[in-house]
Amino acid sequence: MRVVVLTGAGISAESGVPTFRDSDGLWEGHRAEDVATPEAFEYQPAVVQRFYDARRAALADVEPNPAHLALARLERALGDDLLVVTQNVDDLHERAGSQHVLHMHGELLSALCVGCRARSRWTEDLGDHPPCPRCGSAELRPDIVWFGEVPYQMDRIVAALQRCDLFVSIGTSGAVYPAAGFVQSAVTYGARTLELNLLPSEGSHFFDESRRGPAGVLVPAWVDELLTTVR
Ligand code: APR
Repeated sequence: MRVVVLTGAGISAESGVPTFRDSDGLWEGHRAEDVATPEAFEYQPAVVQRFYDARRAALADVEPNPAHLALARLERALGDDLLVVTQNVDDLHERAGSQHVLHMHGELLSALCVGCRARSRWTEDLGDHPPCPRCGSAELRPDIVWFGEVPYQMDRIVAALQRCDLFVSIGTSGAVYPAAGFVQSAVTYGARTLELNLLPSEGSHFFDESRRGPAGVLVPAWVDELLTTVR
């Protein structure tokens, strides 16, 4: 059984990481155009760096929750047959123990050099213009895929969707493409599809099954269920 899991901000909500489009989400307090576009970085780099520096620093205060831990448990059972594709830029899947994780929207703990395009692991602030570890230029930006940019690892993601037997979407509103279209691709390639989300998403009707509730409850229960059927 090959499984692809897509995760969104909802899986980290119970860890205390804010989502984007819920009433207390990041896009309620900020305009995405002001902090999450290449144009914003060009016109007000300090504002953009402050926004991501604060989010990077906040990672120190959060921990993986039972949903992240359950996916790591599933990987220990399925090995290479499980791929987690996350839109999240936190590192909670890795801290829970998952190893096969693709961060399609980048990572807070990485810096991207505008000069040489090197991606470097980064835990400090970027707002004070540190030099790139590879080329030395002071042109590091958050390694985040902004609106209008192409997500990372699309070739590997499409290949995994083509091969999978089951596609599961967890904690995402289905508002942002290409991730929002993965369910339709999975259906086209013949996979069964399941959604685990607190509220109906924009794409709920595309799934064979949708379950409603907090990820911290739904995901461990689904993993238990799956492990009983594959054993
Ligand atoms: N358990 C499960 N689902 C939850 C929980 C929870 N505890 N809390 C919230 N949710 C659900 C919400 O109902 C919503 O459908 O998670 C979803 C979060 O949606 P968004 O805030 O839109 O986050 P996401 O789908 O990850 O956003 C996609 O948009 O701005 C960009 O790049 C950013 O990666 C992000 C992308």
